[in-house]
Amino acid sequence: MYSHLIDLNDYSTEQWNVIIDLARDIMKNPHIYEGACTGKIMGTLFYEPSTRTQMSFQSAMLRLGGGIIGFDNPQTSSISKGENLKDTTKTVSGYSDIMVMRHHLEGAVKAAALTADCPVVNAGDGGHLHPTQTLTDLLTLTEEKKRLNDLNIGVCGDLKNGRTVHSLVRALSKYKGNKFTFISTRQLGLPEYIKKALTEEGASCRDVSSIEEALPELDVLYMTRIQKERFESEEEYRRQKDVFILDARKLKAAKDDLIVLHPLPRVDEIAREVDDDPRALYFKQAHYGMYVRMALILIILNYKDFKPKPFFTGEDCGLKCGNERCIVNNEKGLPPKFVEEGDALMCEYCEERVF
Ligand code: CP
Repeated sequence: MYSHLIDLNDYSTEQWNVIIDLARDIMKNPHIYEGACTGKIMGTLFYEPSTRTQMSFQSAMLRLGGGIIGFDNPQTSSISKGENLKDTTKTVSGYSDIMVMRHHLEGAVKAAALTADCPVVNAGDGGHLHPTQTLTDLLTLTEEKKRLNDLNIGVCGDLKNGRTVHSLVRALSKYKGNKFTFISTRQLGLPEYIKKALTEEGASCRDVSSIEEALPELDVLYMTRIQKERFESEEEYRRQKDVFILDARKLKAAKDDLIVLHPLPRVDEIAREVDDDPRALYFKQAHYGMYVRMALILIILNYKDFKPKPFFTGEDCGLKCGNERCIVNNEKGLPPKFVEEGDALMCEYCEERVF
């Protein structure tokens, strides 16, 4: 099995640390790694728009001496002629040593990994997961807070559709003593399956309905954008879009050593004036993302023992995934796969519970 990165939970925390430690070494000694991927090619398949993830991956590979191929608009590829996911990804994986992929459908990157001829990295699949953003966030916390445990973390915004949040809180729940405060509306709250996963890890969680209520106690405030593209109507989006806005006045109540993070892009949820506050670290966070992706590329291409735990262990039980945004309901010929999750069955592509 290739060292695909679909879900960070397919790897151990010790393996996460290997990536983070290597990223830190690359930051300190970039010259050592120049040319480390000479002759290697990375395919970047972005079915959905991206600035940071796409360009930081491309920059990472170029800094390592490798080359890049790919598209950032599927309409300029043969997808516009009706080519399916399997045929596109199987073909490009044959041209690439590593393939990085973003898709609007949940489980699409995992589906690509089923038949790919090279390692596949999930650069975001619908509202599901974004593991390399989480690695970026873990590196940012390691550098800026000097720890990944005993943090009081506020997560604000669209927690329902925000894949960066889903990956991050699940990762941070693996470290002892972290407390989560979820700042959201009832409509955009964290999905139940993620809350359940946090509770099972023993993480402390609470829900609040305003930034002001949470801010004074926080070590980290992780702001997120309301994900317009995931709403069914413009009207519903408009109702939610300006509920949570961080500004300089609110920040006065925060600790001096709070850090404000945001995976970006930002729309209006952080006022521009906050950018001048030394606690606002979101642009630095985006910069860390390039180093963590350099480390990830190097490890996937060179560390033979760096393997995920087996996935695609599920079976076709004759059931149908209830998630319309799951790849299995949108791509013909994909085998439905369900795995047991406690006393429920879960779609192995998108993690939707069947019952
Ligand atoms: N954080 C993030 O995924 O940004 P992009 O959508 O610009 O890649």
